[in-house]
Amino acid sequence: MYIELLDALIDKEFPDEPLCDTLDFWNQTMAGHAEFIDGLLDPSEEELKSMAQKFTRIFENLVDDCNRCSRRHMLEKSTRATRNIAEFKRAATVGLLECEIESIIPPLLADHVLREANQYLRILQELRI
Ligand SMILES: [Fe+2]
Repeated sequence: MYIELLDALIDKEFPDEPLCDTLDFWNQTMAGHAEFIDGLLDPSEEELKSMAQKFTRIFENLVDDCNRCSRRHMLEKSTRATRNIAEFKRAATVGLLECEIESIIPPLLADHVLREANQYLRILQELRI
């Protein structure tokens, strides 16, 4: 995927890849992030764990839906879900840095997964043009 992206950039184009290949990769990545965030939070963080579990389900459902829903539907749903998880990750990163969240998540990991959500939002924006 990265080599295809570099080749396309050399040609000053965006890679021409089936929509569901791109969306499934990133929606599965976002589901995986939510799943391991849930696993690394302290059991006492019930609200955050429940939100992480909800994000896991939302992104797994997006993967299940891709081949039977319209391009517009998938782009809108994926963008909305990714904006929401990016905000969740942003707030969690701040909470971890300020020692307000009980977990074993290193703040650098939280920042990393936030950057990946922002990267996905950039890709979604390109796909919506
Ligand atoms: Fe990563």
